[in-house]
Amino acid sequence: MGIDIAIDGPAGAGKSTIAKAVAKRMGFVYVDTGALYRAVGLYMLDRGISIDDAEEVVKALPEITVDIEYMDEAQQVILCGKNVTSRLRTQEVGEAASVTSQYPEVRDKLMELQRSLAERYDVVMDGRDIGTVVLPDADLKIYLTADSRIRAKRRYDELIGKGEKAEFSEILKEVEERDRRDMNRETAPLKKADDAVEVDSSCMTVSEVEDRIRELIRGLKK
Ligand code: DC
Repeated sequence: MGIDIAIDGPAGAGKSTIAKAVAKRMGFVYVDTGALYRAVGLYMLDRGISIDDAEEVVKALPEITVDIEYMDEAQQVILCGKNVTSRLRTQEVGEAASVTSQYPEVRDKLMELQRSLAERYDVVMDGRDIGTVVLPDADLKIYLTADSRIRAKRRYDELIGKGEKAEFSEILKEVEERDRRDMNRETAPLKKADDAVEVDSSCMTVSEVEDRIRELIRGLKK
């Protein structure tokens, strides 16, 4: 059995940046589980299946295969045999993932893949329910959070930096709506595991968060 590190938290808390950096430094495999849920959301959007219609979404699930491959250490998501990685990081696909991930059948479908990756490799896995449901015996659980206004501001700055148009109040609304959905769904809602260490990145830089997590990992080895 390898070492498993779970990083959960709300959208925009910096999970993927931190998880990627920690994995690289430790020589672990980084698993972005949100990308798997995004692939399911993308499938529904591409097929014109209404994401709010649980029955239709569940009916389509047997048609879907989702897998992960690594290319130059970067995770690639293979949906029904096609690499869809470059299409996953849009607001629309994120919303679709947030909606369809509420359905227990969608979560069940992705569970085995996540667990088998953790069995095969030392992983840093980020998501919403890694420490609570997917890997309840993870060696280290981090709950990485930040104030919603700060998360919205980071997203706003990112979009403006890319030369895109953005409205702060709209982004804040989307962030709060996503939190509400992810935290209040019945199956595997986002919450801090009892044995997770909470790290609030509101007033921390990326390297400060990384240092804090490395300190926690060092504590593990003692
Ligand atoms: O981390 P992300 O923004 O890529 O995740 C997209 C959505 O997928 C998120 O709003 C909820 C869902 N998700 C989930 O339910 N469980 C996970 N482990 C990861 C993501």
